[in-house]
Amino acid sequence: MVAKEVVVITLIVAILVAVAGAARTEGGPGLARRGSSSAPTHLHFYFHDKVSKPSPSAVRVVDPVDPSSRSFFGMVNIMDDALTEGPEPESKPMGRAQGMYMGSDQAKLGFLQAMNLVLTGGPYNGSVVTVLGRNCPLDDVREMPVIGGTGDFRFASGYAQARTHTLDIKTGDAVVEYNVYVMH
Ligand SMILES: *[C@@H]1O[C@H](CO)[C@@H](O)[C@H](O)[C@H]1NC(C)=O
Repeated sequence: MVAKEVVVITLIVAILVAVAGAARTEGGPGLARRGSSSAPTHLHFYFHDKVSKPSPSAVRVVDPVDPSSRSFFGMVNIMDDALTEGPEPESKPMGRAQGMYMGSDQAKLGFLQAMNLVLTGGPYNGSVVTVLGRNCPLDDVREMPVIGGTGDFRFASGYAQARTHTLDIKTGDAVVEYNVYVMH
């Protein structure tokens, strides 16, 4: 009789321990995708800055102070640019880059760029990464800080590196490769 009770209690304890362990490792839907504290999440996509007509995705809302200046100081552009997996515009959509870039360097082409990377495809669909930094489009690599995010990217920090993939001198349309490293 006593031995039987001991077996039953031991079984109950074993089941409780197993259930608690499973709950710990499962963790909830967002956790599996989250970068660990030591490894940033790497996002890679191509950014399509289409300024040409018809249907540009980046529009100039303020002209530069001196239209003949190569620095474009004072110019403000608003963008809602496509982000795709590959460099072709028809490539799989990953999201949109929504925000602005403005000529803020009097000596050379240098923008203050403020944008939300609104992710609409892949595992981070619905989350946003916010970038604010200096972008000198003629430099080989431009680095801009990641200053925050929403959804899977709450508490985000990190950096984005932008490299021009193609630039159409005639139209000004550019395809830019982005590598974004996010701690979150
Ligand atoms: C992204 O999420 C939205 C809203 O939940 C959904 O309508 C859409 O189909 C999703 N897109 C992809 C590519 O999964």
